Amino acid sequence: MLGSGAREHSLLLALARDPDVTALACAPGNPGTAELADNLPLDITDPAAVVALAADVAADLVVVGPEVPLVAGVADAVRAGGIACFGPSAAAAQIEGSKSFAKQVMAQAGVRTAAARVFRCAEECVEHLTAAPAPYVVKADGLAAGKGVHVGSDLAAAGDFARDVLREAGSVAVVEAYLDGPEVSLFGLCDGTTVVPMLPAQDFKRVGDDDTGPNTGGMGAYAPLPWLPDEAVEQIQREVLQPVVDEMARRATPFQGLLYAGLAMTSTGPQVVEFNCRFGDPETQVVLALLETPLAGLLLACTSGTLADQPPLRWRTGAAVTVVVAAEGYPAAPVLGDRVTVGPLPERVAVLHAGTRVDGSQLVSSGGRVLSVTAVGAALQEARDLAYEGVAAVSLRGSHWRTDIARAALPRGPATTP
Ligand code: GLY
Repeated sequence: MLGSGAREHSLLLALARDPDVTALACAPGNPGTAELADNLPLDITDPAAVVALAADVAADLVVVGPEVPLVAGVADAVRAGGIACFGPSAAAAQIEGSKSFAKQVMAQAGVRTAAARVFRCAEECVEHLTAAPAPYVVKADGLAAGKGVHVGSDLAAAGDFARDVLREAGSVAVVEAYLDGPEVSLFGLCDGTTVVPMLPAQDFKRVGDDDTGPNTGGMGAYAPLPWLPDEAVEQIQREVLQPVVDEMARRATPFQGLLYAGLAMTSTGPQVVEFNCRFGDPETQVVLALLETPLAGLLLACTSGTLADQPPLRWRTGAAVTVVVAAEGYPAAPVLGDRVTVGPLPERVAVLHAGTRVDGSQLVSSGGRVLSVTAVGAALQEARDLAYEGVAAVSLRGSHWRTDIARAALPRGPATTP
């Protein structure tokens, strides 16, 4: 496993549940992954170093968590080294690595998405924004570690963001029409030809309750989505995931790995907001908490082109909720190095590590998003109550979290948590 966040921690938890898995290693990992796997130091963006380590530990399968190594060609190098790798080639990872590439693929595949224009000149971009209706959506073309998207109704702020993106020579900004409607994240397991959708999830990107404040890497998530019509997943599979996988295969850059569609459920049907080329964080924590099918076998089937031979995915009944506990000052200027303690947890609650490290005998914060407290319940209300009980067991000076994760999706009636 390559990566060091809560996503990788939850992938390892699911892999550890697979009876066919005999040993797990994680590079570089975190104190949470160390409980499940051997943590090994590694520059995961260095393809040659990844291949050498994978050979050293005699890995049967390398799973790449984040996008940066994928865009850097790590999966290509591992496969060329004769080791199975879950994750797309650098060419296929461009679906996340370049917003304008993703738009071209969608146009070719007939997939519905926001109308967009690409700009290389700041003045032209601002002129276009001035004539466009609010709210404004401006994206940096390349990978930007979650800081590459601006959405807001303030024209001056949108213009400033576009100027920032276009300050560097050769950079590209994409201005899109705003898509109205609730957002859905749907993960598709892909083997280059076949795509199998997982459970739909929703994440919460703004730092504050009721979607206020700046964007973050994600403050919480829940799955499945009780408000989403039953046929929606099949529709997204038919209208979005399969056409994109077909188009990537037609281009001779087949997509093998996890295709993450971020969608807006508009009044005229699903439209794509973005694609990612890897599992999303924090949605992975809730989707995998509900997965009953052994994960390693599934990921291996993606690498060997045999996904179509797998039985349908099996899911636990009920729901999962995760709440991210963030450091003081996150996202603008997180305060790091504070002691983190976790008291006794209710059953069916897992504390997944994101930004933690061990300092002497203590666990301390080392990133803005520190922990992802994940719970499974018989229903959404129970999962949510348990997740917030788990959050109450965490002690971290100055920490903050959203109190409204999954609240709007609860069945009508008195809520027992804020
Ligand atoms: N959930 C957002 C992301 O993983 O990029």
